[in-house]
Parts: sequence; structure tokens; C-alpha cells
Amino acid sequence: MSGQNGQSPDLLRIAMPKGRMADKAYALFAAAGISLPGDDNGRRLILPSRDGRMRYVLAKPADVPTYVEYGAADVGVCGLDTLRESRRSVYEPLLLPFGRCRLSLCTPVDRLDTPLRYESQPRVATKYPNLTMDFFRARGVNAEVIPLNGSVELGPLVGLADLIVDIVETGSTLRANGLTEIRTLLESQAVLIVNRASYRLKSPAVRTLIAALRTAITQSETTT
Ligand code: PRP
Repeated sequence: MSGQNGQSPDLLRIAMPKGRMADKAYALFAAAGISLPGDDNGRRLILPSRDGRMRYVLAKPADVPTYVEYGAADVGVCGLDTLRESRRSVYEPLLLPFGRCRLSLCTPVDRLDTPLRYESQPRVATKYPNLTMDFFRARGVNAEVIPLNGSVELGPLVGLADLIVDIVETGSTLRANGLTEIRTLLESQAVLIVNRASYRLKSPAVRTLIAALRTAITQSETTT
């Protein structure tokens, strides 16, 4: 018998991101006919699906690739930005039609001429230090990357950084803080990821899930 701890080898364990992507992820799963979690009191972090055949593991978005790579969850939903930053090794069988945004290099509108050269040594604040390092290294720019956990737009406003690398969705946060995009590092959207071993060991369940999601995505594309 399976318990509530998500450890049964027969159950499919799905790492879901808490926060802004959650509603759209559940809506897509529902449209695909995948059993959703039952009601809870809002604090439990592992929830059985209503049909009892799966376990939802509710994770911080940035941690979803970690749970999936280590096999603590068989599949997960996360953003491509988070996945690339994490450098985790998982399968990525399906892009999902939400969470679209871009990771951009941004500067204050009154300092558009900040040079991007080796000797300029820009200070760059970001929640994405790995992707930011990759970007500047590939261009031979000797940037100092300053990791932050949020409200990255503050960086240039308070003199902490010359530039930022951050997620842009509507662009309103940039505009409100006198910043503008100068390069796109990555176009991002949600993606379904799968643990490499689970892809083989739980192949029927994983493939059924992918097929159901793919069908729901195709149907929504043809009706919009
Ligand atoms: C994200 C991102 C930007 C903002 C972009 O922040 O880091 O700040 O959303 O969205 P927009 O282009 O539609 O304005 P989030 O809300 O996740 O909070 P955080 O800055 O504290 O990480």
C-alpha cells in the first residue's frame, strides 16, 4: 500500500512549483484529464491526487529541477530559466504553454552607454549568477556578478550594480524603475522535466502523462 510520504515505487511523484506558475500548471493538468490534488489546509507539501495514483510534491520553483534530478520526484514543472540556471540533468520532453518571459540584461535608461568590454568590469546584480557568468564569459567581459534573491531592479537604483540580469514578462517593473533591456540572454517558458531513471522505470505512467499533456496543449492551440 502507498502512504502519504511519496515513497511508494509505483506512484508517480510530480514536483509542482508553488507560486505564480502553479495555477496555470494545474489548469493544464486538469484540461489533460490528469487527477489533481485533493483539498488540503494549504500547509501540506505532499498531496495525493484525487484518484490516489500520484503524489504532488509542492516545491519552491527553483528547487524543482533538484527534486527531479535526484529522483525525489519523477517529473516536474519548472521554467526553462530556472532549469538552465540549475544546471540539473533531466529529460525535457515537453514545453508547456505558459510562463513565457525572457531573461534580459538591463541598464538604467540614463546609462545606456555602459560599455560591455573586459576592462569595463561592470557589476551585475542577478538571481541567475550561472547564466549571467556564462553570458559575460562568452563575450570576454570581466563582470562582477552580485547574486541577489529578489527585487533585483533595486541594484542600479541604490548603487549596488551597474546592470542587472533579470526576468522580464510585461516590462512594467523595468519601466517603473527607470531600466531598459539591452540584450536577451534566454527566451523562457514552462517545461515538463523527467528524471532520467523514472523515464525508463515508470515508462507507462510517464508516457501517459506526457501524451495527455501534449493532447491538451494541441487542443488548446486549435481552439484559440
Ligand atoms: C519577477 C522578475 C521581475 C518581474 C518582471 O519578479 O524578477 O522583477 O517579475 O515582471 P514584469 O516584466 O511583468 O514587470 P518577481 O515578481 O518574481 O519577484 P522578485 O523580484 O522578488 O523575484
